[in-house]
Amino acid sequence: MNAKKFMHWVDARFPATETYEYHMSKYYAPKNFNFWYFFGVLSMVVLVNQLVTGIWLTMMFNPSAEGAFASVEYIMRDVQGGWLIRYMHSTGASAFFVVVYLHMFRGLLYGSYQKPRELVWLIGMGIYLCLMAEGFFGYLLPWGNMSFWGAQVILNLPAAIPFIGDALGEWVKGDYIISGITLNRFFALHVVAIPLILVGLVFVHLVALHHVGSNNPDGIDIKKLKDKNGVPLDGVAFHPYYTVHDMVGIVVFFIVFFAVVFFFPEGGGFFLEPPNFEAANPLKTPAHIAPVWYYTPFYAMLRATPSMFGSALPGVIVMAASIAILFVLPWLDKSPVRSMRYKGILSKIALAIFVVSFLILGYLGVIPSSDTATLVARICTILYFLYFLLMPIYTSIETCKQPPERVTGGH
Ligand code: HEM
Repeated sequence: MNAKKFMHWVDARFPATETYEYHMSKYYAPKNFNFWYFFGVLSMVVLVNQLVTGIWLTMMFNPSAEGAFASVEYIMRDVQGGWLIRYMHSTGASAFFVVVYLHMFRGLLYGSYQKPRELVWLIGMGIYLCLMAEGFFGYLLPWGNMSFWGAQVILNLPAAIPFIGDALGEWVKGDYIISGITLNRFFALHVVAIPLILVGLVFVHLVALHHVGSNNPDGIDIKKLKDKNGVPLDGVAFHPYYTVHDMVGIVVFFIVFFAVVFFFPEGGGFFLEPPNFEAANPLKTPAHIAPVWYYTPFYAMLRATPSMFGSALPGVIVMAASIAILFVLPWLDKSPVRSMRYKGILSKIALAIFVVSFLILGYLGVIPSSDTATLVARICTILYFLYFLLMPIYTSIETCKQPPERVTGGH
């Protein structure tokens, strides 16, 4: 049976060619994708890296309070190539957030969350929540001292919830304190439950995107102008044009990624924090407990919010709201245009202030708190929320430029 006959046989039983054409060779993507459009595919590359290295780590890791720390040392010192697998996984965690934050920023820049891509954005937010959970559960596993104390801070947060707080905290930990039982359930969640949900969400993220078609840096709809065969005039087939184009981004990404893996795997104490080179010790609190860099903007908001009657509840609410508000973003933007290229000056200023506040919050979450730091964090928290809360106003009153008929740039 030759290849053509074989495919014919398969296609009669399973929509292989049809699916391939729909998503690859006949998926017409705008021809003007730029730098910002690399980060979706890079997120997929990092996801695969995490899954593969994660499975290999699981083969040698011992998910118990007695054995976890030693098994990581064993992977690093005795398992052949173990250090590489572990550093690829730990660097991959930070790389994931780098590419996903840039991917989300692209959405803000070009209004990719606007109609008809609201669901693509919402599913993306589901992915983001899963990533945050995945990072948190994974961080406890090496059972280092920062793993233990970082989890201590976060797992104490449910206690701030009135009435059910204490019971909820105990339920989550599975014990009165963080123990091997907690480690065991975090292992199950990190290795099985969350990855399954994550992969499922990425799948529906792409199905939803391909149903409506990709946005582009001009934010205009390429489906409006089609040739006589129904192919958008400003579209190019995803395969081979973007598969080849994306290879360039993937190679550049790998050069940077492996430079970190080989030469700076600790990322200056940001990717792997110094206290984590010591085993968990409930009697020894690290001098300064800080979460990994990708959570610090939210941690800074939590710390900056004044407590109420000694309860951290307001901080917990602010932190939860800072993420929840991203879910309603598609309904806050009232602009007649999508891309920042054609939005008015108010949107541009608002986005700039938002990004700067987010970065400052990220920095403040890393350093020990002080009166000045708390004040600056409070101002940045307010600016963070104002970006969203004022959006319906500034996007409706500003004057936008008229977007062109056809996309600009592209080859
Ligand atoms: C594992 C994480 C993720 C993966 C693998 C992923 C994958 C992708 C891919 C491959 C694309 C198409 C290529 C591109 O436009 O760059 C895309 C588009 C998109 N993603 Fe994601 N994504 C992830 C997370 C997120 C998150 C966290 C958000 C936002 C909350 C998000 C929002 C979007 C939006 C709005 C688009 C459409 C962009 C446009 O057409 O302009 N994604 N994603």
